[in-house]
Parts: sequence; C-alpha cells; structure tokens
Amino acid sequence: MTASPNPLTVTITGAAGQIGYSLLPLLASGSVFGRHQPLNLHLLEIEPAKKALSGVVLELEDLASPILKSIVPTTEAVEAFTNCDVAILVGAFPRRPGMTRRDLLSKNIPIFSSHARILEKVAAPDVAILVVGNPANTNALVLSRAAPKLNPRRITALTRLDHNRAVAAVARELSVSVSDVSGVAVWGNHSSTQYPDVTRARVDGKPVLDRLGGHDGVAGQLVPSVQKRGGAVLDRRGATSAMSAAAAIADHLRSWLVGDDADGKHVSMAVPSDGSYGVKEGVWFSFPVRCPGGGEYEIVQSVEFDEFMQRYIDATKEELFAEREEALTLLD
Ligand code: NAD
Ligand code: LMR
Repeated sequence: MTASPNPLTVTITGAAGQIGYSLLPLLASGSVFGRHQPLNLHLLEIEPAKKALSGVVLELEDLASPILKSIVPTTEAVEAFTNCDVAILVGAFPRRPGMTRRDLLSKNIPIFSSHARILEKVAAPDVAILVVGNPANTNALVLSRAAPKLNPRRITALTRLDHNRAVAAVARELSVSVSDVSGVAVWGNHSSTQYPDVTRARVDGKPVLDRLGGHDGVAGQLVPSVQKRGGAVLDRRGATSAMSAAAAIADHLRSWLVGDDADGKHVSMAVPSDGSYGVKEGVWFSFPVRCPGGGEYEIVQSVEFDEFMQRYIDATKEELFAEREEALTLLD
C-alpha cells in the first residue's frame, strides 16, 4: 500500500477499551500506514462505553495529528463500517472468571457474525480485516462463515503478539538484540496450545538451538513461557496485555498491508488454512508468512517438521478444529 492522497478509512471496534487506547496514538502518529497517509478513523463502541469513547475522542483531537482527517465515534455498526478500508476488530465480550472457551465463543459469535454481515454490505469491497478479540482465530472463522462474500484471504487474526513475545524471549535468553534474531514462528491457535517454534531460531544467521538448551531446554522453558505469557501479564497487571497487543496490531498491519519484511524475515499471522503442513481447510491457523505488501501474503512452505514439532502442531490443530465444531454448532 503506497500513501494515497485519499484518506484511508480505518474502523476500530472496542475503541474505548484498553487496546484501543494504546492503538489509536500509533495510528494517529502515522507509524502504521505512514506519516503521509491521511486517515478517517471510525470508532465503534457499545452504548455503556459511549461517554468513555467521547473522552478518547477529546484526546485524539488533542494529538493535533496532521494526518487525521476525520474522527467518527459511533455506537452504530453500519455507520462505523461504511466504506471502511481496514477493520480492526478488537471489541469483544470479555472473559469472566469461570468462563470456558465455549462460553466465550457463545458470547462472541453474535458480535462477530453481526459485524460480518454489516461489513459485507457496507465496507469497501476489498476491506482488510484483522480480528483481535478472543478467541481470535475462531472469531475470524465465524466472521468468514457469516459473510461469505468477503474474501477469506482478507481476513486475518492476530498472533503477532505471540511472535513478538517469542523473538524477545530468545533475544533475552541469549543477551542479543531482537533485530539479530530470525527464524522464529508461531503456529496454530492464539491460546496456550500455540507452538512458538524457537528451535529454528537464528542469531546473525546462525542456528542457536544448542545455546537454548536443545529440544528439552526449549520444551521446558521457552515454549511454555511464551504460551503462558498472556497469563503472566494478567496476573501482574490485573488486566490483559494492551500496550504490547496494540504494538503487535501495528506490526501486523504494517507487514500485511504496507509490507516491511524486505530484510527477508518471516512473520506470524493467523490466516485461513489451505492444506499447508497437513492443516486441512476450515480454520484460521497461525503460520510463518512472508508479506510482499499490499495485502498479499504467502505461507512459508519450506519448514520441515520433526516429531517434536509435529506433536505440538497436532495439539493446537486439534484444539482449533474442536473450536470450529463448537462454533458451527452455535452458529446453526
Ligand atoms: P477491553 O475490555 O478493555 O475493551 C474491549 C472494548 O470492546 C470495551 O470498551 C467494550 O465496550 C467494547 N465492546 C464490547 N462489545 C462490543 C461490540 N459488540 N461492539 C463494539 N465494541 C464492543 O478489552 P481489551 O483489553 O481492549 O481487549 C479486547 C479483546 O482483545 C479481548 O477479547 C482480548 O481477549 C483480546 N486480546 C487479543 C490479543 C491477541 O493477541 N489476539 C491480545 C490481547 C487481547
Ligand atoms: C494475551 O495473549 O495477552 C491475550 O490474548 C490474553 C487475553 O485473554 O486477552
């Protein structure tokens, strides 16, 4: 996507929530779509958050951003999604204590299917959609089922936060700069079954598995620490990740829609499965992808699975197909 003199219309749902609060300044500063790309921001909230949203708008105005051409706060999804080029779907029903994934799904299916039907009708025809609200992979599937006219390749879900966590964890472990780390990828679901593959990590192009303690070392430490990182943040902050989630949303959109991986590194993104690596069609699965920019992506095809990796992939695949079954039952 090259900067256009025409404003890009970006819709953020759940805009008055904690991720919205960290994401909006990144958008307004131009660090996502560029400092010369004018933006219209459409901010969707539910009625109880209307007053809080109006406060967020005051702050957005006070940023005095030269690229913000208009700000539309609304509680009407049709108004929010009309002509939108990019939809960032953050708004979701929050997980409450004691809720199972199925409970969470049943609360979120009505939200994502209703947003899907509206997006299909009123958004720009090639709208790019990023699903953030949890369970993100399965919400993306629900969205696609409810809006069959939307191109599934334009619907992605966020696993870049997990990717960034894994890269940063390797860098910390080896006391190197994150920019020297490559080869890391996150596979599967944005949940504790995800497989953050650090076994292929390289530093300055050289394999570092031995320095990370070999397969046993990563299975005992790095993999579970990345899988459980969201829980660790929740435990300490008393709230789920927001600053790092917003930064990951910015990274995801920049890679996917602008294209910033010219250095040859891949990134991780949940995209519709196409049979690659034995993951049958029908779920949004996180793979390593390369993004040339402009909304295209290619799943990296050259990864060879060993038994160690296959076990993790099978577990996260099984969870995603089980979530799919539950979602389809609830959708009927
Ligand atoms: P939050 O509760 O602070 O904000 C969510 C906002 O969404 C609230 O302001 C709420 O009023 C709004 N909302 C609820 N239903 C809505 C609807 N139907 N339409 C529009 N807005 C609606 O939560 P948060 O910390 O901003 O997190 C939002 C979501 O992102 C959660 O589901 C969370 O689990 C998820 N999350 C995902 C990742 C990821 O990596 N995929 C990371 C962190 C958080
Ligand atoms: C995270 O990874 O930090 C979040 O997805 C956790 C959550 O349940 O919101």
